[in-house]
Amino acid sequence: MIEIANGSAHVEGVPLAEIAARHGTPCYVYSRAALENAFNAYREALADRPARICYAVKANSNLSILKLFASLSAGFDIVSGGELARVIAAGGDPGKVVFSGVGKTRAEMQEALAAGIYCFNVESASELEHLNAVAGAAGERAPIALRVNPDVDPKTHPYISTGLKSAKFGVAFDTAIDLYRRARALPHLEIRGIACHIGSQLIDPQPAADAAGKVVELVDLLTAEGIVFSHIDLGGGMGIRYRDEPVLSVADYLSPMLGRLADRKELLLLEPGRSLVGNAGLLLTRVEILKHGAEKNFAVVDAAMNDLARPALYDAYHEIVKVGGSETAHRQRYEIVGPVCESGDFLGHDRELALAEGDLLAILSAGAYGMAMSSNYNTRPRAAEVMVAGTEMRLIRRRETIAELLANELPLL
Ligand code: LLP
Repeated sequence: MIEIANGSAHVEGVPLAEIAARHGTPCYVYSRAALENAFNAYREALADRPARICYAVKANSNLSILKLFASLSAGFDIVSGGELARVIAAGGDPGKVVFSGVGKTRAEMQEALAAGIYCFNVESASELEHLNAVAGAAGERAPIALRVNPDVDPKTHPYISTGLKSAKFGVAFDTAIDLYRRARALPHLEIRGIACHIGSQLIDPQPAADAAGKVVELVDLLTAEGIVFSHIDLGGGMGIRYRDEPVLSVADYLSPMLGRLADRKELLLLEPGRSLVGNAGLLLTRVEILKHGAEKNFAVVDAAMNDLARPALYDAYHEIVKVGGSETAHRQRYEIVGPVCESGDFLGHDRELALAEGDLLAILSAGAYGMAMSSNYNTRPRAAEVMVAGTEMRLIRRRETIAELLANELPLL
């Protein structure tokens, strides 16, 4: 999404230096064309069968991004009442929303039911009972799918594997039949489908295809019992290139999975997050201090783990490139770190860059789980967000102010 030519780095038609001058740093920058292209790649890969792309809001919940996907006819995968409120505020259709999550509160269930969401992805026996009670009190029937756990190893980081037997997510495969029978017996539930999501940042397409195969077998068993499914939801998870991962095109990644569904009539739902937004965003930051230590050189930048938690949390790698500033500095190896008071506050280890104080850096592939996981640790206002479309830049979230951070604690006791 970023082009470096003639000494100037651009996102689409806008130089990053201009964005930094206008909106300051740290600042998340997104390319609208990259977002649209990523969405359209899914649309094209799914063109031959009934399907709906339910964008996983948790990856990046900025309202303008949700609005863009809504305008492309996306549905949404949400995990909280807050995310539902965002989808509605952005003009998304609640009738295309699936609600995942292991701990939906009764209040969240009520709100989602009142909003008329398409489906609750139920993750436990208890949740079935709670939802039945909530729907009964509202005089309604809640549409449900059970999120089943196919016990397939997705071969990704343990923190983002969700489909193993040991995970807190979903219901065990061998209990699913009984739970569907129970759901059928409950008067205020309506079975619509089945759901599964095995993990995130998946590079190999095989685990997702294996999971699809297992889900389809289960659907056949249940259909034989007279339980009718309108849809099969196979979750999200497709990985992106952060460094040198052998990433497939969306069509090639989905192909083995779609092969398992070839002659099925059910609507296919997918819940991609990272693969729609990850490579469409970067985090722009400025070098504040260069510090040449006895063993290491540090470039202290104005972004930190509160802005982008992935390196600190998962030891995740993000490419870091210089996008403006000095021309005379010589290349050295740097630890790229933020100002937060934690040794874990790093954005990149051992990066060879020619840096001077004041230089601008771009931390790439930061569109997913970047801003969405940011915090105010160290009383740092959250970054601004800018969307570029052609030669235009639009501020889509203004930088937080310190006054806003203090406001909830005033007046003083
Ligand atoms: N559906 C469900 C039920 C999920 O739990 C998730 C992600 C998705 C869809 C979207 O998955 P994706 O297509 O983005 O892989 N914070 C971590 C990732 C956590 C993913 C949680 N669930 C990270 O920064 O790598």
